[in-house]
Amino acid sequence: MKIQIVNDYQQLSEVAANLVAGQVILNNNPVLGLATGSTPEGMYHRLVQMCRNGVLDFSNTTTFNLDEYLGLSPDHPQSYHFYMYRHFFHLVNVPPQNIHLPPGLDSDPSQACRLYDRKISEAGGINLQILGIGVNGHIGFNEPHNYLKTGTHLVELEEETVEANSRFFDSPEEVPRRAITMGMRGIMQAEKIVLLASGENKARAMKEATCGKISTRVPASFLQLHRNAIFIVDREAAALL
Ligand code: PGA
Repeated sequence: MKIQIVNDYQQLSEVAANLVAGQVILNNNPVLGLATGSTPEGMYHRLVQMCRNGVLDFSNTTTFNLDEYLGLSPDHPQSYHFYMYRHFFHLVNVPPQNIHLPPGLDSDPSQACRLYDRKISEAGGINLQILGIGVNGHIGFNEPHNYLKTGTHLVELEEETVEANSRFFDSPEEVPRRAITMGMRGIMQAEKIVLLASGENKARAMKEATCGKISTRVPASFLQLHRNAIFIVDREAAALL
């Protein structure tokens, strides 16, 4: 695991976008693992600019998103489907058939989880996985627990996560309590992982993830075991390192 400390959010977004761009340019059929949340917004913005300027071509790219709220339809403004199309997919040329997100509405979510993992393997696995980190050290929606699940699965969100995400909803009661997330195996099997952390509210999680012991109570701490993981961290999030 490597840690790159950058000055601020702008620089973090630039470094992250350049890492994704490198993967897309060098790989004939890149498979990207994508994340939502406020942290990667700047990265998506830059990738869209690069695509518009003709620097990047996503026509051979395949994508798999980390997670989705259970019970939200793709056109719900707080669904991760909506986020991804608004910030990225509507603005670049990833072929629609190459875009994958866990379904928020499915009559058989457990079957949908198994199918999602199968599609990732059929695509040959993820070349580059982008991650944010929760204030409680979660990655995707793999929440702190006394055990972690390996495959894509359904999850009950922790109160801390519901509270952190309530800023996007009109009231905390509207935040879905359940989600579907890629599991730890899906994440850890990515060839390269880029975790982004910005702001002082991420400082404690960053310290625990990078300097603490590897624990299911801090899911991001497992990235210490990955041979090609890089944490891009701004000064505020790196304050306790
Ligand atoms: P954020 O979310 O980027 O909105 O802080 C990160 C996460 O919860 O994984």
